[in-house]
Parts: sequence; structure tokens; C-alpha cells
Amino acid sequence: MANERTFSILKPDATRRNITGAVNAVIEAAGLRIVGQRRIRMTREQAEKFYEVHKERPFFGELVEFMTSGPVVVQVLEGENAVAKYREVMGATNPAQAADGTIRKQFAESVGENTVHGSDSADNAKLEIAQFFTDADIAA
Ligand code: PPS
Repeated sequence: MANERTFSILKPDATRRNITGAVNAVIEAAGLRIVGQRRIRMTREQAEKFYEVHKERPFFGELVEFMTSGPVVVQVLEGENAVAKYREVMGATNPAQAADGTIRKQFAESVGENTVHGSDSADNAKLEIAQFFTDADIAA
């Protein structure tokens, strides 16, 4: 698989605990390059749009509240097989089920406050990147 890009968010539990550098170290150690990165405060509108696919799920309101509760770091990661690689590095959504060495096993507090988001497909990665970055924001 050629070089690919994925979209990542370091969630408010990561900025609150000042562990964004520690998470980035795991990302880089896995061979992924951070080619775009910006620290922002997500608006309610941005969060609702971003998680629209989950809007019928019982935790939707809680998820939007959490994602707007503090700063996040939005990122574009690049590398071979980046989408699948980052999902592997993140670990399972529920940190209790995440494998040793994964970001969520090391850092996540709960299934809601689970430190990182990563795109689940290359197509979604393109859409998610476009929601937060222009080409000029990315330097590979
Ligand atoms: S996934 O990655 O889509 O397979 O995971 P999924 O279980 O469907 O979860 C989708 C996102 O919802 C978040 N989530 C929750 N938030 C708050 N409360 C509860 N109970 C909860 N369960 C799941 C989960 O962290 C996923 O967020 P992202 O940002 O997509 O990883």
C-alpha cells in the first residue's frame, strides 16, 4: 500500500492532562508522520457535523458535550497504510479492551474519554481532513 493519510483528533482529555506530546511520541514511534496539526476549540456545530453518523446513538449528546469541553488537537497523519496503522496504534474504543502498548491502553480514561479519534476508512479520512484542513495547512 502506498503512502496514505488519515485524520486524527487528540481529544479534550488529552489536552486537559497535558499529554499531547506523549501521545504524539507514540504516533511517531509507530512510523506515522504528523504532516498537519492545529490546536482548536471545536464548536458545537463542528462536533455535531463531525459525529453526525452517530446522531441516533444514545451517547451522541454526551459525545458532543465532551468534544466541545476543552481544546482538541486535529492532525493529518501520513504513512504506509496510515488508516489501518493508526487504528492499530490507537487500540480498541473501550480502553478496557485495548491491547498493551496502544494509546488507549496507556492513556484513555473511559469509552467516552478515550484520548484519540482516527478515521475508519480512507474515504472517511479524506472527508474528515477536508473538514478541518486546507491543502495549505499540510506539509508532507
Ligand atoms: S467506532 O470507532 O465507530 O467503531 O466506535 P464506536 O463504538 O462506534 O464509537 C463511536 C464514537 O463514539 C464514542 N463513544 C462514546 N462516547 C461517549 N459515551 C459512550 N458510551 C461512547 N461509546 C462510544 C467513541 O469514543 C467513538 O468516538 P471516536 O471519536 O469516533 O473514536
